[in-house]
Amino acid sequence: MLEFEQKGDERGHLVIVESRKDIPFDIKRIFYIYGSASDTVRGQHANKKSEFLLINVAGTSKVKVRDGKGNEAVFCLNRPHTGIYLPRLVWKEMYDFSSDSVLLCASSEYYDPNEYIREYDEFVNIIRNLEEYVNRG
Ligand code: TYD
Repeated sequence: MLEFEQKGDERGHLVIVESRKDIPFDIKRIFYIYGSASDTVRGQHANKKSEFLLINVAGTSKVKVRDGKGNEAVFCLNRPHTGIYLPRLVWKEMYDFSSDSVLLCASSEYYDPNEYIREYDEFVNIIRNLEEYVNRG
């Protein structure tokens, strides 16, 4: 989880996120998700190339991340000045959206459907092969 600088005064709040300073990549793309029902599960994919920053700029949601080796963790996105950084090759699922949730996503890459891994078994295989490759030296 990352916490961003918050400049507040009597006029309200202003949160600053700068590429390569507050997050470890240059932003090429932003998109945002809203109007998802609370029982909706989004994401359910991993990316070969893209890194992401996710911030609930309004409302709340949860993100479950899985590393493909049996470890998983759940993060609550519930403050507009905190976000989660997701490196490449992490399986992610976004769920538990509040009705006012606006989930802002920033990415290091332009959209390319070919770098999305949408089958969990394929993701596990890629991670396993990567591990074997690294362990072989
Ligand atoms: P999808 O990846 O299923 O959304 P989520 O990860 O939130 O569940 O994307 C929904 C649709 O939008 C799908 O047809 C692909 C398209 N899309 C783009 O064209 N560009 C983008 O940057 C993104 C994120 C999705």
